[in-house]
Formats: sequence, C-alpha cells, structure tokens
Amino acid sequence: MSLLSYTSSSPGLPKAFEYFIFFQIDNVAGFRDTMRSYVIPKISTAREVFGMMKNKTFPPSGFPNDHWEYVGCSVGFSSRGLAELNLTDYLHDEAFHRGQKRDAKDLGDAGSERNGVFQPDWDTKYLEDIHGVFQITAHNNNKGTEFVSNLRKAFAHSAGIKQVLYLSTKFRPDPHTPQEHFGFRDGIAKPEFKGYTFDDELPMKFAGSPVVDPGLILMGRKGDLEKERRPSWAIDGSFFVFRKLKQLVPEFHAFLQENGAKIFPTLKPDAAADKLGARIFGRWKSGTPVVLSPDRDDKSISDDPKRVNNFQYPRDQSTCPFAAHTQKSYPRNNLPGSNDHLFRRASIPYGGEVEADELEVPQTKRDRGLIFLCYQSSIERGFKYTQQRFNNPDFPSANLRSDSPGYDAVLGTTLDRYMTGANPAKQSERLLAGIPFVEAKGGEYFFMPSIATLNQIATSY
Ligand code: HEM
Repeated sequence: MSLLSYTSSSPGLPKAFEYFIFFQIDNVAGFRDTMRSYVIPKISTAREVFGMMKNKTFPPSGFPNDHWEYVGCSVGFSSRGLAELNLTDYLHDEAFHRGQKRDAKDLGDAGSERNGVFQPDWDTKYLEDIHGVFQITAHNNNKGTEFVSNLRKAFAHSAGIKQVLYLSTKFRPDPHTPQEHFGFRDGIAKPEFKGYTFDDELPMKFAGSPVVDPGLILMGRKGDLEKERRPSWAIDGSFFVFRKLKQLVPEFHAFLQENGAKIFPTLKPDAAADKLGARIFGRWKSGTPVVLSPDRDDKSISDDPKRVNNFQYPRDQSTCPFAAHTQKSYPRNNLPGSNDHLFRRASIPYGGEVEADELEVPQTKRDRGLIFLCYQSSIERGFKYTQQRFNNPDFPSANLRSDSPGYDAVLGTTLDRYMTGANPAKQSERLLAGIPFVEAKGGEYFFMPSIATLNQIATSY
C-alpha cells in the first residue's frame, strides 16, 4: 500500500480560507469519544487530496469558490497534548518537546527575562498551554465556518476540549491573492516528493524544484534520519510548525523608498524601491528570481513554470545578496547538503489590507501578517535550523570570498538587522534596517499523527 493511505497531514492541500482552533484537552474520555465518532471520519488524508488534485477537480489555492464545498480538516498535538493522551515516548526532536514558547529566545523573538525565564512578546493567548490545534481549510467560507461551528458543538457535547484561541485567515483580495502582505508572490519554491506531491500522471508544478525522500516530511520513511528510533505510533506522522508573524507593511515600504533611492540614485524612486525589495527577497514581486533577471522584473520568467524555480546562486553577491530571504532559507548550490534542511511550507496571510491612515505617517495600525506554516519530520533540522542556524551573519559564506552576509530581514528576529550585498556595485557595504519589519507574535510546534495513530488515540482508555 502506498504511504498516501496512512498520513493525515496534507501539505499540498489547496485552500482559500483557513481556520485554526487551538485547544486544551479538558476531559480525555470525552475528547477520545468525539474524535472517534465525529472528527476522524472527516480528517483529510493525503491520498484523498492527491487523488482530487490528479482529477484536476481541486480549485487553485487562494481564490474563494462557492461551488467547491469540500472542507479539509487535520489535527495536531503539542508535546503537552500528547502527554495528556499518554503518548510520552521521546520523538527525538528537542525543539518539539521543549515547545515553541520555550524555544522563542533561540528563534530570536523579542521578549524579556522574568525570574530567569524568557517570556516572548507574543499575543497573550499564545502564552497559554496549548494541547492541540484543529486546522480547517475551505474554498467556500460558509462551508468552512459551518464546519467550525459543528466541530465546536460536537466537543461541547462531550466537554472534551476548551478552546484557547480561534483564528480565521484568508488570502489577500484579487489582484493580490498570490502575494503576501509586502507584495511578493509566495508559495513558489517547495521540495517535491515522488508519489506524494507529484507522480507520472501529475507532474511537479515547477521544474527544478528539489526532489527529496518522503522521510524529510514523514517520520519512519526513507530519508528520515531518526527512522530507526521513532516510536511505532509516530510512523507516518509529521511535525507541523505554526508561527504568527506580524508584518509592518507601511514601515517596510518606507524603508525601501528611502534606502532604494540612496543605493540606486539613477533609478526613479519606485523602481529603486522595487529593486532593493527584490534583492532583500531574492525574487521580484512577480516571483522572478533576481539571479535570472537582476535589473528588472520579468513576467515572462515568473509566468513560466519551467523557469521560475529553476536556478542556482552565483558565488558572489552581484545578482543576489547572500542574506536575501530565499538564499538564506535555501542556499541551493552555495551549501552542499542544504536539501537536508528543507521543509514544505503552506503559509497563509492574515489581517486586512493597509488602509489610508497607515500610509500617512507611515505606521502600522492594524494587525496583519503571515501565518507561517510548514511540515517536516525534524523541526531541529528543518524550521529551527533555517530560522536560527542559517540566519547567522556569516552564512552562507563557506568557501566564498565575501564579507559577512548579515541577516535575513524578513525572518522575524530581533537580531542586528544588517545585510551586505544590497548594492551590487559595493557588495561589502552594510545596509542597516533599524526597525523590525516582521515580529513573531505566537506559535507552537505540533505533531500530526497518521490515521492509524489517530484511531489508536481515539480508542485507548
Ligand atoms: C513574514 C515573514 C515571511 C515572508 C513575508 C516570507 C515571504 C517569502 C517569499 C515571498 C518567498 C519567495 C517565494 C517562494 O519561494 O515561495 C519565500 C520563500 C521562502 N521562505 Fe519565506 N517568508 C517569511 C518567513 C519565512 C520564515 C520564518 C521561514 C523559515 C524559517 C521562511 C522560509 C522560506 C523558504 C524555505 C523559502 C523558499 C526558498 C527557496 O527554496 O528558494 N520564510 N518567503
């Protein structure tokens, strides 16, 4: 049997709306009952989703579609949540067992020490104990919210959970739907897994994407470095990272205008700002990689699935700074072995569009940003490695003659925000970003079990 039948997490699931219910397990027996009788039959499996994608029935991500009534549902448990359910074996991932709140200092989040304990500056609800999350996706908002309300009713009946936090998210309105709030197209570069995200009938979306073993996402499968040590109930499960990243959009654009004009004085102000933004991200707003088109956004590249993710980085900063977001997060040829740190992203924006009163000062007055989501079999080697280890100021510079590359400006850390290479003519010059553009406001690490393990959770007493 293919591994698709087993897994409950569906990282390729297209969506237009996404709802998260963070919960504490209040009454274990009631929780198990509702899981068994109501939730498990509704959980989306990767097989189901992949089948629908192959039949080309699934509408694309981002765009609401009232005719598409399918609602996706997954459930994940924090380390504390697993303990409530008596699943206490070590999963061989320190970050997961520590939890994201206790990891926040390592991740570079703003916060303060209280009695020797670091308390991140997160929204208060994320500071509470979270045992698990229901992740619900839809293209039809009425169907999605109806599902949420029925799920709540089912649990109210068994008194199984207490809701800690509810979050409802959606993509940006047309014509910005594919873009995150800074205006850059997101969701392009993803590792691919044969038989799971593509196969002979459904080719991968973008040529040149790295093809990796399924164990990079699924525990116990080929490519999972802890394969031999996972407890049996963890097989075919996946770690799911949730992170609320607030984006300071007016401030980011003001920074680009001011510094773009200084770095590229011969360009018109908007063109200079666009070019600096592209060098900070490693891609132009359309998604065109700066290494393929260093001087202008080229839609013939971004519209071409064979080219938009098919590139390597040079060994200097002429076309792309080492600290550009895409190069820091996945250095490709500039770091042999960087495939070991890949994960599959499935992020979605939250909050509304920037309003006129925020542009005057310019200053963010409403909460908006990115719900950064990703799947992997190791948080230590995946998300956390990228956030913490790749984002050290000397990386990637091994074997490269360069000045300190500096930091990724958009990862959401408090670290000294400087980068070199913003100016291709003066590659060692440091660009300082005094203010943060992205602030971490909450998060947690979850384990998403296989269907077999969910059944086991629901039936053990
Ligand atoms: C608000 C914060 C963030 C924004 C606005 C953002 C935006 C983007 C954009 C526009 C791209 C290029 C398009 C694409 O390849 O999909 C990208 C790529 C990527 N981002 Fe982020 N991102 C954010 C946070 C993060 C974080 C926290 C991580 C992980 C620690 C991360 C990891 C990645 C990776 C791995 C890629 C693909 C790089 C490649 O393979 O070329 N991002 N992001």
